[in-house]
Amino acid sequence: MSAFAFLRDVARRPTQMGAIAPSGSQLGEMMAREVGIEPDHVVVELGAGTGSLTQAIRNRAPHAPLLALEPGAEMAEGLRRRFPDIEVSQRLAHELPEVLREWGHPAVDRVVSGLPWTIWPDHVQNQILDAVVSCMKPDGQLVTFTYVHSQVLPGADVLKKMLDRYFGSVRKTPIAWLNLPPAFAYVASQPRKK
Ligand SMILES: C[S@@+](CC[C@H](N)C(=O)[O-])C[C@H]1O[C@@H](n2cnc3c(N)ncnc32)[C@H](O)[C@@H]1O
Repeated sequence: MSAFAFLRDVARRPTQMGAIAPSGSQLGEMMAREVGIEPDHVVVELGAGTGSLTQAIRNRAPHAPLLALEPGAEMAEGLRRRFPDIEVSQRLAHELPEVLREWGHPAVDRVVSGLPWTIWPDHVQNQILDAVVSCMKPDGQLVTFTYVHSQVLPGADVLKKMLDRYFGSVRKTPIAWLNLPPAFAYVASQPRKK
């Protein structure tokens, strides 16, 4: 999918996109490495979009069972064409446990998120994190990126605080300076089940 098509989706679905450009390969490779995806892991990507993070996951673990959630019809179709060996679902992130059961892998090792957390109210974020944590293995981990420039805004640490409620350990990765805009990620481990 082209940058133009990505921008067109931003115009059509502003409350679902939350970015003006797809993530770059440096950010994707860094996220896949930092969250420690292994060849035998069951991996989920939330908000796979154009597939830039998907490609990084595939580069690291070419045969790992991989489920990509992407509600945008055109983007989901693009993912199916580009990655014929992965499971692509147009369901939403809070429906993850049900989608996983239907897929036949009810427990997940690694979750890679491209979701635009910061444009959503708390109750939406909580609903998604409840769902994610409920289907993670005890040593499961989640990685999710955030833009460096957003750190100067009031409420910059909202995402970190939210992750702290759901995980016993949350750390920051180095910054991917070549990404547009530059970004880093949080790696969250020790999911707290309710
Ligand atoms: C920042 S954009 C995509 C980033 C993607 N990593 C890329 O580089 O193309 C966020 C994506 O999350 C998807 N999305 C939005 N709300 C979602 C939800 N509730 N569940 C799953 N995906 C969602 C959007 O359709 C969009 O493709």
